[in-house]
Amino acid sequence: MTPTRIILDCDPGHDDAIALLLALASPEVELLGVTTVSGNHTIARTTANALRLLEFLDRTDVPVAAGAAGPLVRPRVIAEYVHGVTGMDGPDLPPPVGAPIERHAVQYLADTIRGYDGKVTLVPTGPLTNIALLLAMYPDARPERIVLMGGAIGEGNRTPAAEFNIWADPEAARRVFESGIETTMIGLDVTHQALVTHAHAERLRVAGRVGKVVGELLDFYLRFHELRWPELGGSPMHDPVAVLEVIRPDLLDVRPARIDIDCGWEQGRGRTNVDYRDREDGLPPNNRVAVGIDAEAFAELLIERISTLG
Ligand code: BDR
Ligand code: CA
Repeated sequence: MTPTRIILDCDPGHDDAIALLLALASPEVELLGVTTVSGNHTIARTTANALRLLEFLDRTDVPVAAGAAGPLVRPRVIAEYVHGVTGMDGPDLPPPVGAPIERHAVQYLADTIRGYDGKVTLVPTGPLTNIALLLAMYPDARPERIVLMGGAIGEGNRTPAAEFNIWADPEAARRVFESGIETTMIGLDVTHQALVTHAHAERLRVAGRVGKVVGELLDFYLRFHELRWPELGGSPMHDPVAVLEVIRPDLLDVRPARIDIDCGWEQGRGRTNVDYRDREDGLPPNNRVAVGIDAEAFAELLIERISTLG
């Protein structure tokens, strides 16, 4: 089977980093490139993190294009409280020696999507700023599908109403969900089931040099979740679940859904209003949402794939 071409639009970020590793370790996808966005940390940090990861993996053949330095409308808020001062605290990876390509991420996305006649799947795992700009600036450069990590049917994590990626740039999210491009939302409802524990981290730590780095990423990420989300009993692998939807869709239960974004400035800011129950007075589905996951199979697959990276 021909691998699905993907571009990861991300803000590494512990779980973005693990999503990148999962993509590189998965024969079902061809990672064409990585675009970065401000989110978990500043654009300088998220771009440096993408570069240093790829250099560590000896995969500098994968281009990195730096994107938006802040949201469309809102002031920039980063998540250093989750990901630390480097945006990817834990492992002692050296600073990058290379640089992002000269083109802006949005230009890179447009050129690449056009180059493959739209036969590209975008996997955004940060705020949706770059994707919204792509839609606004290059309306002809439409990817085949978008599979994004963001939102929640239920409780949010940045506020009671909203998940961080959507909360950070709700206007961008609205543009994406209203684009008419087949978009699948991987929200907290499934990622809070997709947990890794200290036991998983131990198994990874002895699985090679990449596994060791993932173990160190998880040590840091687990500490945050033990403090803030003790009831979960592990660290959610938010962003890798978006990659999972492309490589093993059979492990997820995905339904058609109406998804609308609250762009207000008050308590509902960034909320994803999701209706997948075909309610009597509801609007017809405009997108898709994940409502279930085989979490155990996912964790095993993640460990197995990362272990192949050596
Ligand atoms: C999302 O927010 C970020 O902190 C993570 O990388 C993930 O993309 C989870 O709400
Ligand atoms: Ca992310």
